Formats: sequence, C-alpha cells, structure tokens
Amino acid sequence: MHDIQQKLEAMRAKARLGGGQKRIDGQHAKGKLTARERLELLLDEGTFEEWDMFVEHRCADFGMADNKIPGDGVVTGYGMINGRLVFVFSQDFTVFGGALSEAHAEKICKIMDQAMKVGAPVIGLNDSGGARIQEGVASLGGYADVFQRNVMASGVIPQISLIMGPCAGGAVYSPAMTDFIFMVKDSSYMFVTGPEVVKTVTHEEVTAEELGGATTHNTKSGVADMAFENDVEAILMLRRFYNYLPLNNREKPPVRPSGDPAGRLDHSLDTLVPDNPNKPYEIKELIYKVVDDGDFFEIQRDYAKNIVVGMARMDGQTVGIVANNPQVLAGCLDIKSSIKAARFVRFCDAFNIPVVTFVDVPGFMPGTSQEYGGIIKHGAKLLYAYAECTVPKVTVITRKAYGGAYDVMSSKHLRGDVNFAWPNAEIAVMGAKGAVEIIFREDKGDPAKLAAKEAEYKARFANPFVAGARGFIDDVIQPHETRKRICRSLAMLKDKKLENPWRKHGNIPL
Ligand code: HXC
Repeated sequence: MHDIQQKLEAMRAKARLGGGQKRIDGQHAKGKLTARERLELLLDEGTFEEWDMFVEHRCADFGMADNKIPGDGVVTGYGMINGRLVFVFSQDFTVFGGALSEAHAEKICKIMDQAMKVGAPVIGLNDSGGARIQEGVASLGGYADVFQRNVMASGVIPQISLIMGPCAGGAVYSPAMTDFIFMVKDSSYMFVTGPEVVKTVTHEEVTAEELGGATTHNTKSGVADMAFENDVEAILMLRRFYNYLPLNNREKPPVRPSGDPAGRLDHSLDTLVPDNPNKPYEIKELIYKVVDDGDFFEIQRDYAKNIVVGMARMDGQTVGIVANNPQVLAGCLDIKSSIKAARFVRFCDAFNIPVVTFVDVPGFMPGTSQEYGGIIKHGAKLLYAYAECTVPKVTVITRKAYGGAYDVMSSKHLRGDVNFAWPNAEIAVMGAKGAVEIIFREDKGDPAKLAAKEAEYKARFANPFVAGARGFIDDVIQPHETRKRICRSLAMLKDKKLENPWRKHGNIPL
C-alpha cells in the first residue's frame, strides 16, 4: 500500500510540474503566474478539488507518443470563492504552450457539464497557443465541443473568461460567448488572425499588442470588459466581481449587508446638475453617492464612455447600474453605447439582477456614420433588451429624456416598475431650441419671436410634470433622497413576478 501511495504522490508531483522548471521560469520571466499559481490566488485557500490530473493526449504523430505530460496542458476542477462554489479551468502554457488537444478539450467540457448539473459558474483562465497543431482536426472538434457548451450554459450559469496570455484563431470564440472577458495588460492578446497573416492579406503592419492587446479590446473593439495591470490584480478583481453574481439563473444574487443606511440622504446631489442644461456633469458622482459604501464595479470603463454600466449594491442587494454620461458626446446613444448597455441589461435580466437606470439623454446620435453603421438596428438592441427584461427596473431621470431615447431608457412604457424624475428633468420630444426651429420655421428671420417661442416651449415641456400628469413618472423626487427612494422601490420589488410569453426564442436585432 505504502508503495502505491508513494507512486501516486510521484505522479502528482510530475503533473504539478507541468512542462518543467525551465518553462515555469520562462513563464515567470514574462511576469506571468503559472496555471496553478493563478488558481491558488483565485480560489479560497485549500478549497481546490482537482480533476483529471492524469489525463494524457492520444496523439501519436510527430513524436507525440513519447511526449506526454499528465494533465495535458489544462488544470481543471472546482473550488470556492469567498465560500461560494465555482468551476475552473486554467490553461498551462508550460505544456505545449497551453495548446488545446482533444483530451484537453474533454477536460474543459467535463467541468462545464458538471457546472451545469449543479448550477455553478465557470471561470476560464486562458493562456494558450490555440489548437494543438500536431492533432489537427481532433483539436478543432474539441474547440467546437467547448463552444456548444458555452452556448448551452449562456443565461443558465455565469461564465467568465480571464485572458492571461495568447488567445488566437478560432479559440477566441469560446471567451467571446462567455458573459465577461477580463484581460491582463501587456501579456494577453486576442485576435482571429495574427499580425503575420494580417500583413500577408491586407498589407497592414501591426504588432500583436496593437492588434489584440488589452488596451485595444478595452478601448477600440469593446470585446473585453476590463483590463488589469497584471495577473494578481486581474485575479483579485475577479474574486471581487464574483461576489455580485448569483450562482445560476434560478438563484438571486447574494445579499451583503452594509453599514450604509438605506435611507441616507446626500444633499450635495441637489447641486450636481448645472443650471445650464448644456453643461455636462459627472454622472459617476451620482452613482458613487447613491450605491452602498460608494462601491461601484464599472464594466467597459474605457469603451463607449457615453454610457456607464456596472455592478453595485443597494441596501445589500446586487444591482446593475446603467447611466447616460453627459460628459461624453452629451450622453447621446450611439451604436457602441447601445450595444454595450444592451448586453449588460440582458446579463442582469438573465441572472435576476435588478436594473437601476439613470437617464440624461439628448437622443440618438445623428449623422451619416451612425446611420450607415446601422444605428437603427443597434439602437433597437437596447430597446429590445429593456423591453424583454423582467427583473425589477427602477429609473431616475436626472435631466434630459428626449425623443426615442426617452422611450428606450427603461421608460414606464417598457415596463419600468418605478420611474422617478428630478425636479429639473426635461421630458420632451426634443430640446426647446430644436423644436421651435422646426415648428416655427416661418419665423426663422425673426430671432426675437423665435426666442419667445423657445421660452414658451421650454416652460410648457422642459419639466417632469407633463409626463407626471400622465403617470409616466411615478414621482418627482428631490435629488438628495435618490438613494432612499431607490432602496425602498427595490425592497417593494423584491418578489416581483413577471413572465414573457412562451417562445422558442425572440429575434433580437443582431
Ligand atoms: C502545439 C504549441 C502551439 C500549438 C505553441 N506551442 N503553440 N504546440 N500547438 N498551437 C508550443 C511551442 O512549440 C513551444 O514548445 C511552446 O508551446 C511555447 O511556444 P513558444 O513559441 O516558444 O512561445 P512564445 O514565443 O511565447 O509564443 C507563443 C505563441 C506561438 C505566440 C502562442 O507559440 C505561436 O504562434 N504558436 C502557434 C499559434 C497558432 O498558430 N495556433 C493555431 C491557431 S489556429 P516548446 O516545447 O518549445 O516549449 C487555431 C484554430 C482554432 O487555434 C480553431 C477553433 C475553431
């Protein structure tokens, strides 16, 4: 018996060494942690249960029969994050560059299947040279098996990808189908085709970093949701993020009691919005002042900054925040911001997270580039997302709510549960100036007359009471009591039940 135990420990030690000390040192020299070190940081101490440590590839070509490393380039299993179950896989770049073989894919599929059975999220730590070149189509099949599971798990369990090294070719499509992608700056990249292929096909010269680094995907493409300085920061932030989420679509997110009173007033909010309606202000100041302990986990911070989205808690309950940001493009809705917010709202809806929306929107962005780019279809995504959403929806109009954008931004008409406006809110088809220029076009040569009409239009419509009179706004509230009123609304909505009609699936304008 003793011998067998010793043999087992020797086998485990071999597996733990992955591709060997030299390659581990190489990984460290690049400022990267190893697959196992990452899991140690991610999971609560001593909670990792590893599976399939002894799995080996089945490839015999190109000398691979004699080149087997137990575990085959991915560490899989389950553990806890702050006491809550999570399934994980962590690709080991020291073993064949973390490349995905058939066996490697089977390991990932196994934990995904188990996660679906027990209803717990999957976190993937990606660090891989892509398909295992020696295996050919077996490896491609392995990828597709993972893709299929990503889709089946979508909206059932949260899926999060952390990109911590290369992620290229079709391999990018598994992370792309997960709910969130976090990247590490300077050491991770994602692209469908690498710089060499790009050069051959389009004659563009571009570095891997420019083509698909963390900055690119967090500022230009919007593929990623956050970028972090290094492995440690990324993993610690992921642990924080995890605390906001439910384990699956049948559970509510965990409640974290806070010392921050639900009824806390903040009088500084009474002067947040400038008197001049064309002057911007920082919407994040409102978010930080309203949520529990000023704690807001922003997502896609550096992309489509005209809309702000992220997770926070109100009276201990997780909420998704969506807010127009008047500081960027006057808070207009454009293609990028519509897609960004639509995806976020749909995530919240899938996972029972109430949505709190702060509205200050002058409308959809005009112009040829928006129209040619399909703002009609992309703007409709946000409209669709809010309209199909059945979780509690609380909306606060802080200033402008004009035109179609008024409708879109969680209005009463899209089944907003509680719709508030601040006293200075302007809810109208458009701003007074634009409105009189259209309806009193014949007075164009008479600026005094136009100014009088503008003042009249403003007095009539630039307020929340016309909407209030129709019940489109449930109440006009003082800015300083915003937190209290939202918290009360959310408490009232705690057991909200609303179902959409049965269908195979809707047809969101893609
Ligand atoms: C097998 C691979 C590999 C792969 C890397 N390695 N990629 N082995 N299959 N795809 C091995 C290397 O041989 C090397 O082994 C070790 O991993 C580390 O690789 P290096 O090249 O030394 O590391 P580095 O310089 O950091 O470069 C990393 C890299 C590069 C950029 C990822 O290795 C690379 O370009 N690899 C090929 C990428 C690729 O074209 N993959 C296929 C994409 S197509 P030793 O023994 O020396 O340590 C694809 C299709 C998926 O993925 C489709 C899904 C639908």
